Amino acid sequence: MATELKSVLVLGATGVIGQYIIRSLIEAQASFDRLAVFTSPSTVEKKAKEIESLEEKGVQVIVGDLTNQENVLKAYEGSDTVISCVGRNMIKAQIDLIRWAEESSPNIKRFFPSEYGTDIEYGPESVFEKPHQAKLAVRNYIKSSIRRVEYTYLVTGPYADLYIAKLSQNPCLGSFDIEEKKATLLGSGDDPISLTTMNNVGKLLVAALRNPTASRNRALRVNSFTTTPKRILAEYERQTGTNWDVSYTSLDDLKKLEKNAWESGDSLAAIYTLRRIWTEGGTIYEFTDNELIGMHPEDLDSLEDAITMAISSNGQEAFRSGDL
Ligand SMILES: NC(=O)c1ccc[n+]([C@@H]2O[C@H](COP(=O)([O-])OP(=O)(O)OC[C@H]3O[C@@H](n4cnc5c(N)ncnc54)[C@H](OP(=O)(O)O)[C@@H]3O)[C@@H](O)[C@H]2O)c1
Repeated sequence: MATELKSVLVLGATGVIGQYIIRSLIEAQASFDRLAVFTSPSTVEKKAKEIESLEEKGVQVIVGDLTNQENVLKAYEGSDTVISCVGRNMIKAQIDLIRWAEESSPNIKRFFPSEYGTDIEYGPESVFEKPHQAKLAVRNYIKSSIRRVEYTYLVTGPYADLYIAKLSQNPCLGSFDIEEKKATLLGSGDDPISLTTMNNVGKLLVAALRNPTASRNRALRVNSFTTTPKRILAEYERQTGTNWDVSYTSLDDLKKLEKNAWESGDSLAAIYTLRRIWTEGGTIYEFTDNELIGMHPEDLDSLEDAITMAISSNGQEAFRSGDL
């Protein structure tokens, strides 16, 4: 009988993308027997309202330490699927989480490692990109050592919400400032880029769970829409009813800035690299896997929707510390 993924445990459910993922799972609750999150005592204390709201919505909250095998194995009890949304500094720690599932939790059938971003195996050069190393180590571990537990890598490309936002700290990295009506476009402005709204990351994840055979043991390359920096600007100008001030950071300049950032130990260096990869076309495919998991353009946000949401929330910063 084909695998059914019905009892889901989320790690990192109160994080940047975890919040969207748990929200979509709650919306689709009827498809699942059980939803649970595993979180730390400090999150329970600091984010008491969010945790309470999850419990009110029928989500079981399990508290413990993600690096403690006994705590994690206890949390795995009663689940068949683990959705990891842990942040960048916990990516490599997932190797233990996957090993414990493989060796000691026969009920865990599928693990979704924390991906939800740039395709770390896009092409031959990907293996050398510094920001990809931790996620590549997780994939290599799965390839070499995991035989029973299935995996799905949900590769969404950049989040639309962040790419079309302002980056006041460093606008030369690409920025759309709704208040000032000012944009800095990357590359020529005509280079295509595929984006996924954070709402759609959750929706696509639920679609992957509902299509367990199609999503089994593979990277799913999905997105909401494909656009260009100039088309994003044109849509902002249309919806705000005015022309914006525009400047550009060419691909060559972006590469120079990226090199300097790594050499000077800039904490944003990984963001320079990711934005260079996206500008070079590292989010573009002949075909996506949207249809494979039953997702059609009408199920997903459009550029117009993303810009409407950005304007109605009055623009947010493209990233906070730690978002990559
Ligand atoms: N495509 C994009 O544009 C984009 C942008 C940002 C991130 N991402 C990707 O999305 C994934 C999740 O990133 P995120 O930014 O959503 O993560 P985040 O908000 O930084 O962290 C997510 C969660 O990780 C959990 N965690 C547990 N122990 C931790 C520790 N020691 N240090 C840090 N976190 C710990 C926390 O869970 P609790 O909630 O239980 O406390 C935290 O809320 C990553 O793979 C990242 O690369 C993609």
